[in-house]
Amino acid sequence: MDIALAAISAASTIAGLVRVKTGHLGESSPLAKLNATLRDVASADKAAFGKLVGQARACVNQAFAAREVELFAAEETRRLADEAMDVTAVASRWTPGARHPLNLLQEYIADIFVGMGWEVGEGPELENEWFNFDALNFDEDHPAREMQDTFFVDPVENHLVLRTQTSPVQIRSLLTRELPIYVISPGKVFRTDELDATHTPVFHQVEGIAIDRGLTMANLRGTLEHFAQIMFGDGAKIRLRPNYFPFTEPSAEMDVWQPNAKGGARWVEWGGCGMVNRNVLRAAGIDPEVYQGFAFGMGIERTLQFRNDLNDMRDMVEGDIRFSQQFGMVL
Ligand code: DAH
Repeated sequence: MDIALAAISAASTIAGLVRVKTGHLGESSPLAKLNATLRDVASADKAAFGKLVGQARACVNQAFAAREVELFAAEETRRLADEAMDVTAVASRWTPGARHPLNLLQEYIADIFVGMGWEVGEGPELENEWFNFDALNFDEDHPAREMQDTFFVDPVENHLVLRTQTSPVQIRSLLTRELPIYVISPGKVFRTDELDATHTPVFHQVEGIAIDRGLTMANLRGTLEHFAQIMFGDGAKIRLRPNYFPFTEPSAEMDVWQPNAKGGARWVEWGGCGMVNRNVLRAAGIDPEVYQGFAFGMGIERTLQFRNDLNDMRDMVEGDIRFSQQFGMVL
């Protein structure tokens, strides 16, 4: 029994203690064996012998239970100490990035139209001259085709250009989609402009085209005014001024009334729009007596400038993270 008690108090881990238990209380332990000799003990001494062995076993059991409690507590304390962490330690500082405000605005605009049941359409940035100009009713000698505006891509005989507008997506939508068509298409466009406060050779536009039965300029106005109010606040309204675009007739320049502009409410020129030219519809095999359409297009950089009172477009292309953090959603 003393040996058993000594072994129990010497055990320093739960696992060790369990081994001691098997050795000293298990079936082949000295105490179990002693108990088995009970039948050889003279009847007169049996009771006394049994009592002694029983007491010894109880004593060892008790010691075991007490040691078990001690060791559990010790192991718990050690584990807590190992897992402790210093919540006051200085964290490593990774500056989170931020999505570019132009991309965010572009997605936001698409979402607004998707919310009205429109679809998002796409076209290539390296575009066929035919889609960018001819199919849109631009004359052979239209000034926009001139070398100073358009990036023509070598070899010129391939008639590839970096698209100068998102309007070619109108034609792509007319040719590939089932009627009625409601397509919004934001994307990158290119013009041979020098980078300055109000121009950048690579910029973004958003194009919209709707073709359905019975569409009129009232639908165009309503759609644009709703869009303007989401972009510039509840008091925003739009104003159309007659203009010329080869692919729309009638065509209009569109101004927006910006009620919350920093320097006071004001009209700003926002984009172009009009009713899809009947020639464009006919060229796409659509009967203009049955279907009518409206289209519009505006610059996303300008939209961002107006919304956030930005003066210099160069800030949008320089890629300085501080600009994005200020106006973009931080990731
Ligand atoms: N594509 C024109 C531009 O870049 C903008 C535009 C005007 C788009 C009238 C349209 C529209 O869809 O109907 O100047």
